[in-house]
Amino acid sequence: MKFVRVVKEEELPIGKSIIVAAKSEEIALFNYKGKYYAVANKCLHKGAPLGEGRIEEGVVICPNHEWRYDLETGGCRQNPELFTKVYPVRVAKGNVWIGLEGDQKPTALGKGPNQMPANLKAKIDLVQKPINPDEQL
Ligand code: FES
Repeated sequence: MKFVRVVKEEELPIGKSIIVAAKSEEIALFNYKGKYYAVANKCLHKGAPLGEGRIEEGVVICPNHEWRYDLETGGCRQNPELFTKVYPVRVAKGNVWIGLEGDQKPTALGKGPNQMPANLKAKIDLVQKPINPDEQL
């Protein structure tokens, strides 16, 4: 497992999310109530980007048809046998790091903020507005 620096803490405030690309995978990184969670960006239903979903009570809700995934376990609320991939996240020296398996090397996908490492950039602009402001606290 190799940890890759993704973003500075200050660039991903509470209630925000970012989508990052790592080779063949896209990862949705959330700051939910001050804790960071990373899950596969692709919904298990029809592939919509979970990083654009909203969060309610620790569950990310797909923007398309509202399938729900537990941020801690990746467990799907619609089907208890389904789990989306979750990634380990660490915070060190003001940066957020995501653990990637094997020798997978992250690659750039689109433009990103200046502070992003050259080999791992945000696919979308740093971030969306919180859809549910009550969940920011
Ligand atoms: S694509 Fe996510 S619920 Fe349908």
